[in-house]
Amino acid sequence: MKIKNICCIGAGYVGGPTMAVIAQKCPEINVTVVDINEKRIAAWNDKDVENIPIYEPGLSEVVAEARDRNLFFSTDVDAAIDKADLIFISVNTPTKTYGMGKGMAADLKFIELCARQIARVAKDDKIIVEKSTLPVRTAEALKNILENTGNGVNFQILSNPEFLAEGTAVKDLMKPDRVLIGGDINSEEGKEAVQALVDIYNHWVPKENILTTNVWSSELSKLTANAFLAQRVSSINAMSELCEKTGADVNEVAKAVGMDSRIGAKFLKSSVGFGGSCFQKDILNLVYIAKSFGLNEVADYWEQVIIMNDHQKKRFAANIVKTLFNTVSGKKISFLGWAFKKDTNDTRESAAIYVADYLLNEQADIVIYDPKVTKEQIYADLNYLGTRSEKENRSRVTVLNDPYKVCEDAHAIAVLTEWDEFEHLDWKKIYDNMLKPAFLFDGRRLLKKEEKKEIGFEFYAIGN
Ligand code: NAD
Ligand code: UGA
Repeated sequence: MKIKNICCIGAGYVGGPTMAVIAQKCPEINVTVVDINEKRIAAWNDKDVENIPIYEPGLSEVVAEARDRNLFFSTDVDAAIDKADLIFISVNTPTKTYGMGKGMAADLKFIELCARQIARVAKDDKIIVEKSTLPVRTAEALKNILENTGNGVNFQILSNPEFLAEGTAVKDLMKPDRVLIGGDINSEEGKEAVQALVDIYNHWVPKENILTTNVWSSELSKLTANAFLAQRVSSINAMSELCEKTGADVNEVAKAVGMDSRIGAKFLKSSVGFGGSCFQKDILNLVYIAKSFGLNEVADYWEQVIIMNDHQKKRFAANIVKTLFNTVSGKKISFLGWAFKKDTNDTRESAAIYVADYLLNEQADIVIYDPKVTKEQIYADLNYLGTRSEKENRSRVTVLNDPYKVCEDAHAIAVLTEWDEFEHLDWKKIYDNMLKPAFLFDGRRLLKKEEKKEIGFEFYAIGN
């Protein structure tokens, strides 16, 4: 089966970059990315390609090459579904904020809406691909909806989870460690559908990097991969606290441990805590699934990764208060960075949000600089917590686009995101314009300790 038209529902951090790369690599296939968010689609279509809604190194170049050739962004979801041979579902699957499984389970309402819309619109056979991260056995529910409410057409359901990381999305998509495709490998139609998707990726991904499995293994592998990655960060963060008590340096420990080829060096960078839209959500979902099967020990094991991460964020904030003579009330604390990691404008679940919330509860005044995050996004992140009124957030938090102004007359600076540019600031100038003692808290192990101490800073870094 040759795929000529692809539709992707959801033009977010996954749908946008993934489809841009597929379109660039497969010029003979038409790719239409649809979304109900009109503003987002308008931004993807902005004449100036630098204004696309997602900041990712290298993405605007890929979009510039493929857009209006075989890559289209639209709000006409029905039309794109109708035309497509293959439909990716790449909508958000956040943690439920209500009802059964509140705070744990993945909210599948957006997925279900997509399935019902596809069932209503489809007039010929289609391959449906789960791109969103989903609980194991979601494909079964999708099949049920599609087959019972549809127009009698046949649907093959595949699972094709995405492993890209933000900030390196284009690189990860161009050269993935593996592409995982789960399908009904016991039927001829299932095998054909799997092959159709393999053929798309095989335009640029070598066959040996394309792994095919049954649907349930594929769905569960995605949750497992994220749980393992997050677990490594929590493990090294647990050691960072012990390092601070014993004189060991967590970077040295991570290097020594990571040189063991059985352990490996990646994902052992101690930090103020992992953020991002997925690690916490996916582990909570895993915990919920384990509990729903009565596997309490399994659930407790993975929940500890989240507990450790919450502790890391909290202890970083508490250390600021403690070090500033047990009070930050009315003191200016400068934040360098708000995004959950460098090279992205995404702030979802960023550790900075929780550190700010803690310090605001202690009545600090916070002034923030992030090279890619907008002022309104920062207020929205704080307002979303509902800890205090919007008015109070606006009066206590200031956002500026000059790091030097942000640090002027500050009692303390906290580095919350590891943006490269922070390393190259004129730290002597920053020091000269701060109140003394000038406290500097490095939540990312970005800055050189000896250098900063020589300038005169009272310097504190995670795990050192
Ligand atoms: P996102 O919120 O950036 O994008 C999702 C988009 O889907 C939104 O623009 C939303 O308007 C749209 N949408 C929702 N319901 C819709 C509907 N019925 N019709 C049309 N559009 C609809 O989310 P994201 O970060 O791209 O994540 C999507 C999925 O991919 C999630 O399941 C996530 O867990 C998974 N994932 C994310 C990443 C990542 O780095 N962000 C990586 C791998 C996997
Ligand atoms: C993560 C995974 O790496 C992707 O494979 C996955 O596809 C994605 O989640 C997803 O499912 O959404 P992402 O969250 O974009 O990607 O970014 P990561 O590089 O994994 O970083 C996550 C968080 O952990 C960041 O806050 C980062 O600063 C932190 N981190 C990461 C550390 O503190 N230390 C490390 O060593 C690595």
